[in-house]
Amino acid sequence: MKKLIVLSLIVTFFSCEKEHVSPNTTEYVPCVISDSVSFQSEVFPIITDYCMPCHSNPGAGGVNFDTYAEILPFALSGQLVQTLIHDTTGIIMPPLPSNGPDSCGVKIIKRWIDQGALNN
Ligand code: HEC
Repeated sequence: MKKLIVLSLIVTFFSCEKEHVSPNTTEYVPCVISDSVSFQSEVFPIITDYCMPCHSNPGAGGVNFDTYAEILPFALSGQLVQTLIHDTTGIIMPPLPSNGPDSCGVKIIKRWIDQGALNN
């Protein structure tokens, strides 16, 4: 009987421990990129969050990203990615110290361009 009590205490202790730990654990979120990246549901939201504050008509420097047609030339010329990866041979966007999308967001945009920068 004593053994059973000790055992149940141990079990209780470990289950509490587990509950206590999990809410504070930062989970690693893998970068999932679909085989067919969607402009509407994946690329445009990133541009909306990180670029539209300054590049909605009338956008800074005359650059507007309100529509697919306006974004496409920057995607095809390589300028969209060049600004995002902070390639120092060109202009850095968003301007420092603003944060740009994380590396996963940049990969999604690159993949979309590699797949033909479709209006999908
Ligand atoms: C805080 C405001 C701000 C944000 C946010 C911002 N930009 Fe800009 N952007 C500017 C300004 C200001 C200019 C004009 C700068 C210049 O011509 O020197 C500019 C110019 C540009 C240009 C033209 C560069 C050139 O060589 O003429 C591109 C391309 C660009 N931005 C892309 C982006 C992208 C992509 C994002 C989102 C990741 C973004 N920007 C976010 C302020 C911003």
